[in-house]
Amino acid sequence: MIGRLNHVALAVPDLAKATALYRDTLGGKVSASQALPEHGVTVVFVELPNTKVELLEPLGEGSPIAAFLEKSPSGGMHHICYEVDDILVAAEKLKADGARVLGNGEPKIGAHGKPVLFLHPKDFAGTLVELEQV
Ligand code: CO
Repeated sequence: MIGRLNHVALAVPDLAKATALYRDTLGGKVSASQALPEHGVTVVFVELPNTKVELLEPLGEGSPIAAFLEKSPSGGMHHICYEVDDILVAAEKLKADGARVLGNGEPKIGAHGKPVLFLHPKDFAGTLVELEQV
């Protein structure tokens, strides 16, 4: 069911600092930062030859990464995103297998304008998993 690794997302307390680290110290190709108020984050994409790293900083009240940064103030891996061909088929299979799909269980449009869903970390080896239909 899962295909390519689409991205790994890191929650960071200071986006400018994390961007400089990835650009200057690691020599990565980084994008300009983009505010995504509807997702409660500001994001910088690090383009790698085979995948992306997304640096996420909280934006506004009730950011989905605020609680994570309270527990891990220096930041850390927030989620991993795998590609799927058909998100509705994936959601049905996962629910049939007893996995918890976060939110109302229905896919929604993610930060890249494509349908996504998130799976409960306790059901997936302690890691928040995002599936994205590509
Ligand atoms: Co993501």
